[in-house]
Amino acid sequence: MTIQDGVPALDPGSPGGTARPWLRLDLAPGQRVEALLAQMTLAEKVGQTHQVANVDPVADRELLRSAGIGSSVLASGATAGNERDAGLRVCVIDTAQRIAVEESRLGIPLLFARDVIHGHRTVFPIPLGLAAAWDEDLVRRTAALAAAEARLDAVAWTFAPMLDISQEPRWGRVAESLGEAPVLAGRLGAAMVRGFQGDVLGGAGTLAACAKHFVGYGLVDGGRDYETVQVGENTLRNLHLRPFRDAVRAGCATVMAAFTDVDGVPMHAHARLLREVLKGEWGFDGVVVADWDGVGQLVSQGVAADLRDAAAQAITAGVDIDMVSGAYSAHLGELVETGRVPLDLLDDAVRRIIRLKIRQGLFEHPYVALPCAPTTAGTSAATAPGSAVEASVPPAPLPPAARALAREAAAASFVLLSNGRTHDVGTLPLAANPGRVLLTGPFVHEGEALFGTWTLDGRGEDIASPAAAIRDRLGDGAVVDDGRFSDRTLHLVRQADITVALVGEHPSRSGEANSVADIGLPAGQLEVLRAIAAFGKPLVVVVFTGRPLDLGEVLGLADSVLIAWHPGVEAGPALVETLFGDRSPGGRLPMTFPRSVGHLPSSSLARPTGRPIDPASDPSAGRYLDALVVPRLPFGSGLTYTTFDYGPLRLSAHQMPRHGGSIEVSVEVTNSGDRPGREVVQLYLRDLVADVTRPLLELADWVSLVLDPGATGTATFTVTPEQLSYYDRTMALRIDPGEAVVTVGPDASRGATARITVTG
Ligand code: BGC
Repeated sequence: MTIQDGVPALDPGSPGGTARPWLRLDLAPGQRVEALLAQMTLAEKVGQTHQVANVDPVADRELLRSAGIGSSVLASGATAGNERDAGLRVCVIDTAQRIAVEESRLGIPLLFARDVIHGHRTVFPIPLGLAAAWDEDLVRRTAALAAAEARLDAVAWTFAPMLDISQEPRWGRVAESLGEAPVLAGRLGAAMVRGFQGDVLGGAGTLAACAKHFVGYGLVDGGRDYETVQVGENTLRNLHLRPFRDAVRAGCATVMAAFTDVDGVPMHAHARLLREVLKGEWGFDGVVVADWDGVGQLVSQGVAADLRDAAAQAITAGVDIDMVSGAYSAHLGELVETGRVPLDLLDDAVRRIIRLKIRQGLFEHPYVALPCAPTTAGTSAATAPGSAVEASVPPAPLPPAARALAREAAAASFVLLSNGRTHDVGTLPLAANPGRVLLTGPFVHEGEALFGTWTLDGRGEDIASPAAAIRDRLGDGAVVDDGRFSDRTLHLVRQADITVALVGEHPSRSGEANSVADIGLPAGQLEVLRAIAAFGKPLVVVVFTGRPLDLGEVLGLADSVLIAWHPGVEAGPALVETLFGDRSPGGRLPMTFPRSVGHLPSSSLARPTGRPIDPASDPSAGRYLDALVVPRLPFGSGLTYTTFDYGPLRLSAHQMPRHGGSIEVSVEVTNSGDRPGREVVQLYLRDLVADVTRPLLELADWVSLVLDPGATGTATFTVTPEQLSYYDRTMALRIDPGEAVVTVGPDASRGATARITVTG
């Protein structure tokens, strides 16, 4: 069909005397949506569901004029997170917007989306690193700054937060996640949504957020990206759906479907989870977007015969926007006309998309704030790999406040795993005059590798490297290796008093399509660490990584081991300030660090079995003949430069009515060392008898205490029946009367426990 067929004339006599009532701010958003919908042709409706990659004002001009495009993902390819992108050509994007708004019949603005994952120009730690800070406010502030920067670049929608529960370190995308625990990922994800979207969607400098990938993607078989997923609805509900629920409750505007299947049904065709649970049961009134070509991939997944069939299945399942596959654009019109897809389903999708555009304020403010002269023919492509960023003047340096936040976030993400194993006293922090400090290893001079995966708009020249930062600090007292582990390195170690080795994984080993079968350090690094350690001098190992690694031997070789993730634009100063104790590491592991690949999956959320392990008698009973089953480093663990003593657990009551009851649980924590420090006090719960197997221990809450030496603080938790609620065999949410165990401690492996009873 063509858009000339049956195009309704605009109604000049509509209320308010305007031909475009959907522009009237005095009308409620719902009325504006309906006013527009009533004017749209079938082709214009289909156009709203069609998302193209890098809209091109030249090549796409006619399609834009006929309203055949609704949105554009600004990304250079199918796995854009792995590619260096030359940046956004803001005025090119703006030109496309002007065509859509000024030259199409109804003037519906485009929505521009980009993967603003952990910062925009100001690059913050990878999400897994941000999660290690266990700090909602910090996460919110980083997202708010990223939104403000991205909005200036014409972006109105980000594909973040990534909320896939991640318990499989082989999977490269754990770097993009907020860890393994639903409560941590859910609360941090909601904070990220609030940061991106601000108090009200459409406020100045805000982006629409997108909770992804719905759902179960973190369970890909063997950790291999895009693989199949075996999981039942009960586990989905009790674990994997929970952070999405939190994001939806926080007002997250959009949700992205996962590439994977769930127990045989690809998520882009999963009507039960998308239409019934997300849109129905949860009342989500936002937009569901496909992942890149996810609709088209229904054909490769072998559930759709062709693109037409794929389009029919995806719109029926509840996917509102087709990202780049073209299936909707090519076939939805005909599918509706022939009755295979009811018009109501298409109208539902379009209503959601228009509502988002209205909420985002795009009808009032469709253009970028920068003065852009309309570009002429020959100027195309919204991003331009390999070419200069569009601005003719070099971009201004990053503002000090942005750098300060990036430094704060980087330092907060660091997790100290060990300190002083082989040289009794803690090696860190280094003394003000530590002697000759050698900085060596592959990350010494690194720039962009410290950004991590999915950094589309960070600029290499903004990065403050570890080499520069240590030279600033120590001048001639610092010896900086050339960044290649070699014989020269050992020569320098011989002359140094302390060696700081910066090792780990390049970001190209994590992120999308970057899974590994071996979670040890990359080849060669361990051999050099062994040789360095053989000198018997203090050795600090800093590990840059996008995933939990098997660090068993490293922990034995080094005096101190610090996990630095991929820390972003202030990597160097944040690291040096931490090494010298201006800042203390306060991060805690957001994922369990397993003993080996053979131990996977390994997480804090194990459920009881018929033959429980008694750690007191046999720590591996019946599990492995050749290894312990306990993790190398438990979820929630991390040291700092001081120590903390925990007092006894205090409970305001031991009984809690099922309806409306609560118990205050508190513990006094004393800083028993000689430096100020932050302790993350963690609350875990266990329901002892339930309708389905429930975790032996599940994070329910946490409190951060920042204490001076000798000071005592109180961590107080309110335990509620809702925290013990779960989905039962019939998928109903319930709270059981009966006993539960409360544990409060510094990580998932230690703590004081008490029993409580839910009554009524
Ligand atoms: C990824 C998504 C991303 C999208 C757009 C896909 O390949 O799975 O997470 O948002 O590309 O760049």
